[in-house]
Amino acid sequence: MKTQVAIIGGGPSGLLLSQLLHTRGIDSIVLERQTKDHVLGRIRAGVLERGFVDLMAKAGVAERMHSESYVHDGTLIAFGDESFRIDFAKHTGHPVIVYGQTEVTRDLYAAREASGGQIEFSVQDVRIHGADSDAAFVTFQQNGQNRRIDCDFVAGCDGFHGVSRQTIPPELRREYEKVYPFGWLGVLSETPPVSHELIYANSPRGFALCSMRNDHLSRYYIQCALSDKPQDWTDAAFWQELKRRIPAQQAETLITGPSIEKSIAPLRSFVTEPMRWGRLFLCGDAAHIVPPTGAKGLNTAASDVHYLFEGLSAFYETGSPDGLDSYSQKALARVWKAERFSWWFSGLMHRYPDQSAFDLKMQQAELAFLRDNDAAQKAMAENYVGLPY
Ligand code: APR
Ligand code: PHB
Repeated sequence: MKTQVAIIGGGPSGLLLSQLLHTRGIDSIVLERQTKDHVLGRIRAGVLERGFVDLMAKAGVAERMHSESYVHDGTLIAFGDESFRIDFAKHTGHPVIVYGQTEVTRDLYAAREASGGQIEFSVQDVRIHGADSDAAFVTFQQNGQNRRIDCDFVAGCDGFHGVSRQTIPPELRREYEKVYPFGWLGVLSETPPVSHELIYANSPRGFALCSMRNDHLSRYYIQCALSDKPQDWTDAAFWQELKRRIPAQQAETLITGPSIEKSIAPLRSFVTEPMRWGRLFLCGDAAHIVPPTGAKGLNTAASDVHYLFEGLSAFYETGSPDGLDSYSQKALARVWKAERFSWWFSGLMHRYPDQSAFDLKMQQAELAFLRDNDAAQKAMAENYVGLPY
């Protein structure tokens, strides 16, 4: 097989890039190691920045998102018995869109299939060859057959545990990591959301987040110990703990129900540099991970895709390599700002095991400053709705 861009990974990054390339007549093949149903079975954050929404529109995949999503002009921040609202519309003129990543991925799959896009599922042993030469190709196994794709470029959209990042020689890679001393226990329930906007809560018992997918599907998280397992938490214990961490008003009105999904995610900040090696370009979780506090994972994957799509389009349309040559530098400049915001917001909203009394006072003063200061709220709002590409 031969294509212009071989894309490893059929998650949001790979699918969005493939669909955008298609709009410019650039051919790609997506290699996904799981089945489509497995990919669509993942539960991920659903807060979309304006840049992401614009990219989905450019890809021709925004119709259902606009009809079924929520538009949020703000979010509630709670600490102790206090709470205050960050008004995105007032500070930035932009909302965020709440639309589950599963639905984004579903829409992208539908668009690729409608456009005749080639997606190979259940592939094994994907390997990238010749990325630092003029003859790149990818090999893989599928249904017991050895297969090969000759290509101009490879987009590594295969997530944190993929093969792409590892293809870049270790001596050429610089990696930066921070592992947080707690996890998030998440529950999906077929219950109406407790609030029309998200609630981020820093309580003496730890962090909690109230989110949603639609009028009948809610998503809740509580900070938990890294040693916890989902089976350690009954639904009743989860709901009781959540009520103890969110403002009294919402604790009283919270409608609980059986969990239809319950999982624990560790929190990590991670960046690898550079995001390019020859004809190989890393996108999304393959290159960086953020703690979910600021909902920046999918949105930072989107800005990577934007920069790579622009670089590839310019190359094929004009022959200019400039966009590809500046990809890593441009993508990383925005990645680090997203890492900073996610790290800052995580530090503000969680209780840390080693937190001293002074540290706690600093956290409370930071929250009080955010509550009282317009410039602080504007800075947070600008980061939350999405910094410009
Ligand atoms: N070969 C083929 N496919 C692979 C390989 C491989 N060796 N390794 C991983 N994959 C696939 C995974 O099965 C997954 O479907 O690559 C895809 C990567 O998708 P994501 O992990 O979702 O990463 P990305 O597309 O960058 O999207 C980032 O997803 O995980 C969330 O929080 C993250 O919201 C962020 C978003
Ligand atoms: C979610 O809805 O899953 C979600 C929302 C906001 C976050 C993290 C997760 O910061």
